[in-house]
Amino acid sequence: MADWTDCLNFGIRVAKEASEVVLSALQQKKEVNLKSSPADLVTETDQRVEKILISAIRKQFPQHRFIGEESVAAGERVQLTDCPTWIIDPIDGTVNFVHRFPFVAISIAFTVNKQTEFGIVYSCVEDKLFHAQRGRGAFLNREPLHTSGQEDISRCVVVTEIGAERDDLALSTMTSNIFRLLKLPVHGVRALGTAAVDMCQVATGGADAYYHIGMHCWDIAASAIIVQEAGGVVMDTDGSEFDMMSRRVIAASSSAVANRIAQVIQAFPCCRDDEDPHELRL
Ligand code: IPD
Repeated sequence: MADWTDCLNFGIRVAKEASEVVLSALQQKKEVNLKSSPADLVTETDQRVEKILISAIRKQFPQHRFIGEESVAAGERVQLTDCPTWIIDPIDGTVNFVHRFPFVAISIAFTVNKQTEFGIVYSCVEDKLFHAQRGRGAFLNREPLHTSGQEDISRCVVVTEIGAERDDLALSTMTSNIFRLLKLPVHGVRALGTAAVDMCQVATGGADAYYHIGMHCWDIAASAIIVQEAGGVVMDTDGSEFDMMSRRVIAASSSAVANRIAQVIQAFPCCRDDEDPHELRL
């Protein structure tokens, strides 16, 4: 089995270096632009940090490929091949970054043969480094992580997000999903504003489950392996196998909790990340 530890260590190093740029820009005035909706924001720092990360990694590993949030926003297509591929979100939690709400993360996943080999989530303000390598466990600041193991939905704290999708169907589906979970009941519903850090809460056992519809592969690819390696379960919201391109995810402390959430929540239609929305499907 190939060992990608050198790549993991390099990814951790560049994520920490790039976080200096995020932290210093956090205090400054920002120029904010809109992408797909009034809640889908981008700043010059998102673009700059993505360029810093990709150019440093490309210099070290010239054969590797990239899927980066801001490169895709600039027109690149999402194509996950069997080649070693870095999936990068330079600032997960851009709305938080703009408002200085203190949860912003650099998220980096690495895949080979379409399988995730490792994930890195660096929560910059908290100075928390989450990482996991396939088959080798999950860690927070190098200390091992374990999910809560909770199996009873009525004792769960569930994390979710009202993301950037703001059409009527998306909004009514997301709010009624929260209503249905609260009526089960669950102990509480939380949102930190970054899918990557939200999901890492499940890996720490601080939350028991997370679900989201409408996020993108770069938001959750790294945290998915962190949850799995911490002993958790990751699946599609319809209960099928996790597919990072589907824009739907449940991450939970146990299969029982994941399946219960899949029974309760509904999804709204989203174009897959690896599908061109302008291409006609025949
Ligand atoms: C967003 C965050 C947010 C989620 C959105 C994502 P970004 O990522 O993860 O929590 O609700 O769906 O798009 O745009 O800040 O990288």
